[in-house]
Amino acid sequence: MTTYITTPIYYVNAEPHLGHAYTTIVADTYSRFRRLQGEKVRFQTGTDEHGDKIAEAAAREGVSPKEYVDRISGMFRDTWPLLGVAPDNFIRTTDAKHMSTVQKILQQVYDQGDIYFDEYSGLYCKGCERFLTEKELVDGKCPDHQIAPAQIAEQNYFFRMSRYQQQLIDHIQANPEFITPERYRNEVLSFLSEPLEDLCISRPTSRLTWGIPLPFDDSFVTYVWFDALINYLTGLGYPDGEEFESYWGVAEHLIAKDILKPHAIYWPTMILSLGLPLYKKLHVHGYWNVDETKMSKSIGNVVRPAELVEEYGVDCLRYFTLREMSFGLDASFSSESIVARKNSDLANDLGNLYSRSMAMLVKYTGGVVPNPAADQTSDTVLEELAGSVLLRYQEAMENFQFHRALQAMWELISLANKYIVTNEPWALAKDPGQEGRLHAVLYNLVEVLRLLTLLLQPVMPGTCAKMATGLGLEGDSPLVNSLEIGGGWGLLPVGTELQKIDALFPRVEQKKVKQPVQKVSGKKKKEKVKAEPLAGIITFDQFKAVELRVAEIVAAEPVKKSDRLLKLTVKAPEERVIVAGIAEYYRPEEIVGMLVLIVANLEPVRLMGVESQGMVLAAKMEEEGKSRLVLSTVSGPVVPGSRVA
Ligand code: MSP
Repeated sequence: MTTYITTPIYYVNAEPHLGHAYTTIVADTYSRFRRLQGEKVRFQTGTDEHGDKIAEAAAREGVSPKEYVDRISGMFRDTWPLLGVAPDNFIRTTDAKHMSTVQKILQQVYDQGDIYFDEYSGLYCKGCERFLTEKELVDGKCPDHQIAPAQIAEQNYFFRMSRYQQQLIDHIQANPEFITPERYRNEVLSFLSEPLEDLCISRPTSRLTWGIPLPFDDSFVTYVWFDALINYLTGLGYPDGEEFESYWGVAEHLIAKDILKPHAIYWPTMILSLGLPLYKKLHVHGYWNVDETKMSKSIGNVVRPAELVEEYGVDCLRYFTLREMSFGLDASFSSESIVARKNSDLANDLGNLYSRSMAMLVKYTGGVVPNPAADQTSDTVLEELAGSVLLRYQEAMENFQFHRALQAMWELISLANKYIVTNEPWALAKDPGQEGRLHAVLYNLVEVLRLLTLLLQPVMPGTCAKMATGLGLEGDSPLVNSLEIGGGWGLLPVGTELQKIDALFPRVEQKKVKQPVQKVSGKKKKEKVKAEPLAGIITFDQFKAVELRVAEIVAAEPVKKSDRLLKLTVKAPEERVIVAGIAEYYRPEEIVGMLVLIVANLEPVRLMGVESQGMVLAAKMEEEGKSRLVLSTVSGPVVPGSRVA
């Protein structure tokens, strides 16, 4: 089986930002996943270097277009390794090979009568580099660039897109997986329900010279989209490259919704005109927004991926983007959300599981993978969940549901953390009669770590390489590199010597919370956060009467008919139920496995019909006029039930 995955080729009129990084991280993750499945993979990205926008950007900087595109294309190429992204091919539309193939294709399409000369007048958006229809405008402006398009009338060459309209509709209808998620497929079908206009594919050299000359009329250059889309073929050495043979039939394109129309309409009609099979799939994702607005250079709200890597680490950035965005929908970026994911999912859940388990193995078996065989009371809870997680993971990854794949893995992490608490290896270690059981428990834990190393690899390759070293495995061991070989249970050889590695995810401090801004007589004025008056002084004995304990959340669910309350089952160390008013701030699945602080000796109360035996402590913050609760937790692994002194 083979996979060919592409990203859009990015315009070189702007530096790479989080939006570009996301698409490219997704493509990289997907190609690594397919490799884990044993497939032969080709992953291509690159830069789109012709057109008005680029010519103008070069002119603004007072350099030649060539000098300009070399520099910015280089910035894209250099950014990808910083993000752990390893494409097999980086294509540039200024490559001689690409340019000559585009000309050959134009000649072929022209010769077969699919290109004609005509006069046209229309509304042209420079940002999109295409003519827009009246229907696409919002308040007379391009919705993506917030500028009114210019009325342009000129003679040009046109591609007979309309000729292929019905064939395209038939293909989309017969192949529900051709464009996903479904909402984008529906959008395209709805667009195609109106008659399709032909596509203007030239620009007169009197207006633009930075482009590929038309082979049949050198007073025109090629429209940038007709040039750019062809990269997906030229990158494979079309028409006669070996790669073209192996990969074209399985092409999967990955884009954001901004360029749906060129990819779902222009491109397939061009392919049909060339007489080639259509690409296999188009995967469409939403936007990264900052404060509800699309991140883009023209709006000036970009987040630079290299800076995020510097601050949080490359694997944290990869994890965050894939976990936070539901593929297909928009997502919001904020530094608070990335810090929260790092501290809670990575440092607390995964990092703690790894360090606790490894520390216990060092302590109780001298860092050698123990033999679980002597256990008389063996349990299979982790093995069973691992089997179902593996299936759900593969299905989700194949369908670009990365957040789902990660959620499934975090269920396993959470269960393994609970498994430690329930099985109390420290207690087993005190009793020589329990050595068999202790070894079985530790083996199950280390096997979970190995499986996680395998499954998480496409998302966090660097971290997984470290984890593999810690588990005493070679980086290329099939136990952590092949789903077929490593996907089973009980594979880590008994007697393997574990290695000491540094903490996987050092915690980061949440940056200072933004101060609330209040509107006073039309002007924005910063309000100082006033310290709340302290409650009356209490004596030490009064304080001592409050019993604070560390509790582990073992289950969480919404309280019926309440938007605010969650019913938590905690261990502290005995199991009890606590009702907490945190439903607006936490989803139940996020907090299972978390160690929190509770008041353990409060008189029980009934809240919405559920008896609450205690109270969970949380910090209350005011942020932009809204309050938010953040659960209090402990900085390292602590046995649930420990008193807080
Ligand atoms: N050059 C064209 C693509 C030609 S492909 C044959 C182009 N370039 S672009 O630089 O504007 O890149 C657009 C793509 O960058 C989006 O489709 C998406 O992959 C990514 N993103 C840019 N901004 C984005 C967000 N704010 N959010 C998510 N992805 C974004 O269009």
